[in-house]
Amino acid sequence: MSAQELERTAAAMVAEGKGILAIDESFPTIKKRFDSINIESTEENRRAYRDLLITAPGGSDYISGMILFDETIRQSASDGTPFPKALVDQGIMPGIKVDAGAKDLAGHMGEKVTEGLDGLRERLAEYRELGAKFAKWRAVITIGSGIPSSACIEANAHALARYAALCQEAGIVPMVEPEVLMDADNTIDTCYNVTERTLKTVFNELYRQDVTFEHTILKTNMVISGKQCPTQADIQEVADKTVRCLLNAVPAAIPGIVFLSGGQSSALATAHLNAMNKTYSSLPWPLSFSYGRALQEDCLKTWAGNPDNVEAALKVLLHREKCNSLACRGEYSEDMEKAA
Ligand code: 13P
Repeated sequence: MSAQELERTAAAMVAEGKGILAIDESFPTIKKRFDSINIESTEENRRAYRDLLITAPGGSDYISGMILFDETIRQSASDGTPFPKALVDQGIMPGIKVDAGAKDLAGHMGEKVTEGLDGLRERLAEYRELGAKFAKWRAVITIGSGIPSSACIEANAHALARYAALCQEAGIVPMVEPEVLMDADNTIDTCYNVTERTLKTVFNELYRQDVTFEHTILKTNMVISGKQCPTQADIQEVADKTVRCLLNAVPAAIPGIVFLSGGQSSALATAHLNAMNKTYSSLPWPLSFSYGRALQEDCLKTWAGNPDNVEAALKVLLHREKCNSLACRGEYSEDMEKAA
């Protein structure tokens, strides 16, 4: 793949009014999601659920790409079409999660480092054959007493840079994802400081490993109050602090920034993105979404593993996709939730 093709892929991922649907839950995570609706995590149930998400009619108006899990990229829709082809046929780009998960960081209690570099060149070559246009690697940064440590941020940033370089070598756009978790009791300002420090370290490492910024998509957390924090910042404060943090830490050459939802409610994740795009109309990069839970939650509950509920679940999914598409343009309003 030429440099121009990498550029085109990256631009298409964040095309106006479009975002990414993350359906790359690992085996333990999809089991957790299925447990919540009392469904067993069998290969067929996972396939049936992903079939619904992938073949949802109308999704391509709002969704530019989907991130698949290793099992999913090898599975097929009910009519026998391989999932990557089913996506391409609708004009949606297949993506793939390539990290091997966040593991305990030796010598640093409570902190994680993401693994998966061994054999990555060969895996990327196979994923490219299977149709992947972009690949995601998620690093996890935890806020707590005395953490994150520099050791944790630097180890994760280095791994992200090594993975991103391998992706570009393979003709695949890296979706670099450092996620500062929002589960603790920290204030929004602590989240700001940790996110800024993390992003600056990540971009420094990307530079040192000769990763081309123009061919890299950033996926990151919003700057937000920790879930356990007694004072919760309002929507406008989240929008203002997130944008200010990004302006201070993300090079203008990056073609686009997408957010993870990280445990925010579906409507709040949409409202935050909307406030950013409504308030700030001339940023160096488009701001879009790459949500997992905030796009899937209502759909998963409505489906509940029952084929009779597929139609209703599709309607719910399309509604969330449309709301987030409007949020990319700053045109979403909470009234749209009542009408749904
Ligand atoms: P959430 O939106 O559920 O945080 O998931 C996005 C994702 O892909 C995390 O890697």
